[in-house]
Amino acid sequence: MDHINVKQNIAKNSVMICSGKGGVGKSTMAAVIALSLAKKGLKVALLDSDIYGPSIPHLFKIKNDGHEMVNDKLTPSNICGIEIMSMGMLMPEKNGIVWRGPMLSKMIKHMLQNTAWSQDLDYMIIDTPPGTGDIHITLTKDYGINECILVSTPSHIAISDVIRAKDAMKNLGICKTSLIINMSYIEYNGINKNIFGNTTPEQCAELIEIEKFIQIPLLEKIANFDIDWVLRNDFILNCVGSLL
Ligand SMILES: Nc1ncnc2c1ncn2[C@@H]1O[C@H](COP(=O)(O)OP(=O)(O)OP(=O)(O)O)[C@@H](O)[C@H]1O
Ligand SMILES: [Mg+2]
Repeated sequence: MDHINVKQNIAKNSVMICSGKGGVGKSTMAAVIALSLAKKGLKVALLDSDIYGPSIPHLFKIKNDGHEMVNDKLTPSNICGIEIMSMGMLMPEKNGIVWRGPMLSKMIKHMLQNTAWSQDLDYMIIDTPPGTGDIHITLTKDYGINECILVSTPSHIAISDVIRAKDAMKNLGICKTSLIINMSYIEYNGINKNIFGNTTPEQCAELIEIEKFIQIPLLEKIANFDIDWVLRNDFILNCVGSLL
């Protein structure tokens, strides 16, 4: 395999969005982070590295319109100035994928190296699948990515998985880690309520042993992924923007 360093060759900064846990909002937060960078006028790409369950096309309402190769390169979608590539854009929506690890790594390599990204990307944001497996190994060991944002809810079950994920990321050479405590609270009758228990954001960060963290509330506009609303919501954009 040709080893390239994404940091040097594809984007000035590359950041993986990870969590040991599924369903905590990695894809949603990856999309919000990309929107916050694009709104700042930065050149941003968003790679969906979740091969089995690509969510980014759903969030950005990208249809699988038979993304053709142009000059042997995949054409990324461009939504709100964000260059996007995902397995969901390359395979029919209802097709399931049954691949072993080496095939996953090959596909990540294909999407990273054979997509017609802009030359001077400031950021490559990479949404990753749940867990810490083949894709994370490929991204860190073969592409030199050394920064990640972990996503957790305040639930004990999520936190325990994220503690393991943080350790795994450290073992993979990640040296810059921050944390989003997602769905941290819901506002109900003017009161902020943590529906996942009593663990405060500070306690979550302490348990996961991460200093830099933010919290994002559970909001209907985020659940429905209203892009225009997200782009207008400076509170959310500044929150995630503060991590980079
Ligand atoms: N802050 C939020 N407020 C409301 N809903 C949210 C929020 N964050 C995520 N969600 C919702 O939670 C669900 C899971 O989010 P998402 O798919 O982003 O998680 P994930 O960690 O990427 O999941 P997977 O592990 O399957 O890839 C989605 O229905 C999403 O709309
Ligand atoms: Mg996801």
